[in-house]
Amino acid sequence: MEIRRLGPVVGLGTYRTFDADVPGARTVLDAALAAGTTIFDSSPMYGDAESSLAAALDGRREGTTIATKIWAPSVNEGRAQYEAQRRFFGRVEIEQVHNLVAWEEHLPWLEEERSAGRIDRIGVTHWSAGSFPELERALRRRRFDVVQLPLNPLERESEHRLLPLAEELGVAVIVLSPFGGTGAPLLRGSPSDDELAPLRAFGIATWAQAVLKWVLSDPRVDLVIPATSRPARAAENAAAGSPPWLGPDERAYVERLARA
Ligand SMILES: NC(=O)c1ccc[n+]([C@@H]2O[C@H](COP(=O)([O-])OP(=O)(O)OC[C@H]3O[C@@H](n4cnc5c(N)ncnc54)[C@H](OP(=O)(O)O)[C@@H]3O)[C@@H](O)[C@H]2O)c1
Repeated sequence: MEIRRLGPVVGLGTYRTFDADVPGARTVLDAALAAGTTIFDSSPMYGDAESSLAAALDGRREGTTIATKIWAPSVNEGRAQYEAQRRFFGRVEIEQVHNLVAWEEHLPWLEEERSAGRIDRIGVTHWSAGSFPELERALRRRRFDVVQLPLNPLERESEHRLLPLAEELGVAVIVLSPFGGTGAPLLRGSPSDDELAPLRAFGIATWAQAVLKWVLSDPRVDLVIPATSRPARAAENAAAGSPPWLGPDERAYVERLARA
């Protein structure tokens, strides 16, 4: 089935980076927009991140895509979250069921919103490989357009069943936590400049860019959404979102560097 592609492109996550510090969030957003980032991922689970994102985006919403989430055990609560998001952002382009919470209950009303043209795509997310079987069950209903899941050179469980399934069903893939989550464990102990040198021809100058490009070079992946509280890193990460993409040999090289 044909996938309505979102990318390949680098977006911006907002977990733990857009909540407490609104002026800080604005400087990160300024840098991300200047670097060409247009897709922003959030959730009601991320404290005040949605309202900070909306405030920082004020006057600059046109041309951007909001991917946010419903994280609620009941339809009433989910609808209340959605109405708040519509106040923040005007509309939501990609509405995802966060961590599969009550996904069967939320699907019908989200589909109504999509049919009415108020949401472009409906998605479902989970960060834990232990929940991949349920994520797979959800996708097999053929009612979701997008799945958000983890994938990085050291965390590859989604390659076994979910990525092939997403490709088969025409579901777009958003990759969360590309650096292994808050604190970026995958980026500790970065390879040396000499070790990164073979990747320079691919526009890669830093280990973070190598990891992001490894993710986006999987043709089944549409979007990767690293989070940062530092404007310079928002620009660094965004720069990994354009070709040339890595081939199998370069991807294997990045995997070896990650394991070292
Ligand atoms: N279940 C779900 O749906 C779910 C679960 C998890 C995440 N997500 C989404 O995915 C997004 C990303 O995941 P994440 O926030 O868990 O983790 P992540 O993006 O893997 O890592 C974030 C960490 O990486 C650091 N970092 C960012 N860019 C860097 C760079 N160029 N060099 C060095 N360090 C860098 C950041 O530190 P600094 O702030 O110091 O730069 C931050 O501590 C979230 O924000 C959220 O939008 C969704």
